[in-house]
Amino acid sequence: MTAVLSVENLSIGIGATGITDNVSFTLEPGQIYGIVGESGCGKTITALSCLGMLPEPGGRLLNGRILFKGEDIYSASPERLRQIRGAEISMIFQEPTSALNPLLTIRKQLVELFEFHEFSGDPEARMDQVLRRVGFSDPERILASYPHQLSGGMLQRVVISLALLLHPSLIIADEPTTALDVTVQAQIMELLVELQKEEGCAVLLITHNIGLIAQYADRVGVMYAGHLIEERDVSSFLRNPYHPYSQGLMAALPDVDERKELRPIAGQVPSVGHFPEGCRFRPRCSKAFDPCDRTVPTFQPEPDQKVCCYLYQEAVV
Ligand SMILES: Nc1ncnc2c1ncn2[C@@H]1O[C@H](COP(=O)(O)OP(=O)(O)O)[C@@H](O)[C@H]1O
Ligand code: SF4
Ligand SMILES: [Mg+2]
Repeated sequence: MTAVLSVENLSIGIGATGITDNVSFTLEPGQIYGIVGESGCGKTITALSCLGMLPEPGGRLLNGRILFKGEDIYSASPERLRQIRGAEISMIFQEPTSALNPLLTIRKQLVELFEFHEFSGDPEARMDQVLRRVGFSDPERILASYPHQLSGGMLQRVVISLALLLHPSLIIADEPTTALDVTVQAQIMELLVELQKEEGCAVLLITHNIGLIAQYADRVGVMYAGHLIEERDVSSFLRNPYHPYSQGLMAALPDVDERKELRPIAGQVPSVGHFPEGCRFRPRCSKAFDPCDRTVPTFQPEPDQKVCCYLYQEAVV
């Protein structure tokens, strides 16, 4: 089966300064893949790069490629990219208002998607269906509303309905609940996962919250200072995180339902342009030893499980 998304050795820079370095992961159809890490690790840049969007100004693809259902995003024509964005891959952002135009009714914003992309069904029926499905019993009232007339939770439901409207193969959800009240956060995540299963699409879930990964993702990639330092299925990751940074993240998770903020490890993520040589986690790592100032390769302690840490150097498969 062709992967929905295949990110291969992706390095993105601003000018010559690397932001992400050699990031690789694969998202299978119907899977929820979580990328987790502290703020500033390069999660959003990785997410946007999957849509062919690089940071402005000066963003560059330094190395690697991204395949969406086998198609190279960075070789696609501008016309093809426009088709992919919003229809085949859709995005849900942290702040629902950033995805919506304050000057247009919700109806107008949904209708615009149909005008912009091909759709074989009945647009009115589909709008009614998705709005009901995200929990609105009165779709006509919602369609007639402007964004400022709806609460944050309602707006994020509208954004989810926009994201689902054209039956995408992939939804990229970048901190989809971070801006919402805790009670609404859980409702929105449950809804997103239910709909993902119904529609059979894959989700790339980007979050700083390891609790969301534990609860909802099938596979996880842990990001640190532009590197993907661990890549596993979630159940084995939760039982036994390999990387000292991942262990720190897990130590901050006594109870999944508490949805704790990540503040587990002393020190801070180094900023772009100031990454240390070798393992970028070394200044914060209590287990650092001799080889850690050299570039860390990827080790495979078990099949299909990857970690970038010299503690596992015996484990090359
Ligand atoms: N447009 C930009 N120009 C320059 N630097 C940027 C830009 N966008 C992000 N960065 C830098 O890239 C790093 C990664 O950012 P980002 O992907 O937004 O991290 P995350 O989503 O994990 O918080 C950060 O250090 C940030 O300061
Ligand atoms: S490679 Fe070394 S410094 Fe980096 S996480 Fe592993 S033990 Fe710590
Ligand atoms: Mg971000």
